[in-house]
Amino acid sequence: MAEFHDLAELALNSEGQSWGNLGYWQNADNYSDACRALALMLGEQSGLDRHAIVFDAGFGCGDQLLVWLEHFHIAGLHGINLSHSQTRFAKAKLSNAGFEAEASAIVEGDINDPDLWSTTLDGARPTHVLALDCAYHFPSRLAFFRLAQHHLSCAGKLALSDFMLAEQHDTGSWAHRMLGWMLHRSHIAEDNMVHRDRYLRELQDSGFEDVRIIDISDHVMPGFAHAMRKLGRERAASSATLPWSSLIKYRVTGWFLAWAYRRSILRYCLVSARKAR
Ligand SMILES: C[S@@+](CC[C@H](N)C(=O)[O-])C[C@H]1O[C@@H](n2cnc3c(N)ncnc32)[C@H](O)[C@@H]1O
Repeated sequence: MAEFHDLAELALNSEGQSWGNLGYWQNADNYSDACRALALMLGEQSGLDRHAIVFDAGFGCGDQLLVWLEHFHIAGLHGINLSHSQTRFAKAKLSNAGFEAEASAIVEGDINDPDLWSTTLDGARPTHVLALDCAYHFPSRLAFFRLAQHHLSCAGKLALSDFMLAEQHDTGSWAHRMLGWMLHRSHIAEDNMVHRDRYLRELQDSGFEDVRIIDISDHVMPGFAHAMRKLGRERAASSATLPWSSLIKYRVTGWFLAWAYRRSILRYCLVSARKAR
């Protein structure tokens, strides 16, 4: 059966890379470098170190798992990803890099399934729960916050790169109806798109404190949109392997994010919070 999250993004990447996020474009001029830069920012923002036990929600094709293991030298890894094809790909990626035990500690499934957290963690308490460019895709971000809080170790960290509604965005406007159409098309629950004050309240009500929200939209949304426009031109100029259906999907997403940025509808942020004592 066709999956919404599959291996299509491989065609956007440089040789050997398989990222699928929006990227951090300040000093990057290709898609894979921008995606890795976003992962590095998230790892730094969450304070990963040699003692960290990471639970990665929505790990894509596994490139970020290698960043946690090889760049931050974390002590342990668990993870859940909804996508069958990506989970299989990520397991192979970890095994090929010599991380056999870690490959068996990442599983396929829905992050909103409480039983899956328990079986995946099997009594372990992660020091860090990470969600790189994916929490807005979850059936309920709020339910994810609560599960993360429940399973994190004492004073453990939750860190995400995520969308929220821009401060001035009016949910009664025509632009909001347009946003609703695009969210539906992108399999994103409308309840996941909230203003910053509600995002903050949801974290606090779920049992988190020391919340930091850093707006990085300027180096994410226009950069991704520009890369997707370029992709279209490159596809036209060469015999690129990207199928037309994927090209159209990425072009529309890039156009939409440029519009949502220009019109101050969405903001893209790095979020971190500590489990309250
Ligand atoms: C935009 S991609 C980001 C992938 C990866 N984090 C990266 O940076 O390359 C979103 C990811 O979230 C995963 N995802 C979406 N819904 C999920 C769910 N309910 N449970 C677990 N993972 C989910 C998808 O399978 C996909 O890997």
